[in-house]
Amino acid sequence: MNDLAELIAAAETDFAAAPTPAELENAKARFLGKSGRLTEMLKALGALSIEEKKTRGAEINQAKQRIEALLTARRDALAEAEMNRQLQAEALDVTLPGRQRGGGSLHPVSRTIERIEAIFASMGFDVAEGPEIETDWMSFTALNNPENHPARSMQDTFYVDMKDEQGRWLNLRPHTSPMQVRYARAHAARHAQALAAGQPMPEVRVIAPGRVFRVDSDATHSPMFHQIEGLWLGENVSFKDLKVVFASLVREFFETDDFDVRFRPSFFPFTEPSAEIDISFRSGPLAGRWLEVAGSGQVHPNVVRNFGLDPEQQIGFAFGIGADRFAMLRYGIDDLRLMFDGDLRFLSQFA
Ligand code: PHE
Repeated sequence: MNDLAELIAAAETDFAAAPTPAELENAKARFLGKSGRLTEMLKALGALSIEEKKTRGAEINQAKQRIEALLTARRDALAEAEMNRQLQAEALDVTLPGRQRGGGSLHPVSRTIERIEAIFASMGFDVAEGPEIETDWMSFTALNNPENHPARSMQDTFYVDMKDEQGRWLNLRPHTSPMQVRYARAHAARHAQALAAGQPMPEVRVIAPGRVFRVDSDATHSPMFHQIEGLWLGENVSFKDLKVVFASLVREFFETDDFDVRFRPSFFPFTEPSAEIDISFRSGPLAGRWLEVAGSGQVHPNVVRNFGLDPEQQIGFAFGIGADRFAMLRYGIDDLRLMFDGDLRFLSQFA
């Protein structure tokens, strides 16, 4: 074996013995580095004759190429080994079951309200939302409640330990009816403009869903529940329109024609005449029972005045739908409290 063959063999052994890329680079330096063995051989060429230089130089270059090829091969081998090691270390067991991400879903009451909103929107109703903490005037006075009316008594209204500008306790609104006042007042300016310009009077047509609060708790009453207020005022809006609107709501919401709607005389200070709206399905599990689902009535002239409108010009109706009631009827839930306990075993059934 000549010295070059020996050198190649030595490089191969050294490279193979290097366990890491860093050590491989050290081994490389011993052969190909500035004072490596091969470099020394090239330096020694200077002492040779031209002829010898040619042959010896060519041989050394061949050896160099061979060593470089060995080096590359070893580098690749080390890189591959490292990659395999990593793959091994981070190996995935693809047969393991996937990690479940708990899918959220809307509460049955939210779904119900969204559904009802969509139905009213299709009948040209705006959707408005307003505060849950109200002034005495908005919750009661503007709605034609006499000062001593029992509806504002401590018995069923929650009061907040804070007073409004009139020095009256703020309340957690016991119904969504204040939204009639807020919405109509906000739009009174629009009406005044139209009137001044001799234009046809724009109508107020709105629903206002939201939470309401009363001191009450049993299977059919919760201290917090949901109503959807409705208000439609125009030049000539009547109970007949209310009946059509309500029948359309029931038909669309419950996806059936097989029901009756009944207006049962009632009393609210802010409507005159007033009626409870009952529905009765002609088939299905609830067939034959009258179910009370809303309060309603023709808006009282005093209330129209509190809207900032003229009761001689604007007439119409208001209603307050029990949103939870609609949800319970749709999903067949018989205890209202289940809806607000936050038990996922119950709620996930509606996902
Ligand atoms: N606010 C009434 C209630 O809470 C319902 C209602 C709304 C009645 C609008 C008439 C008109 O019971």
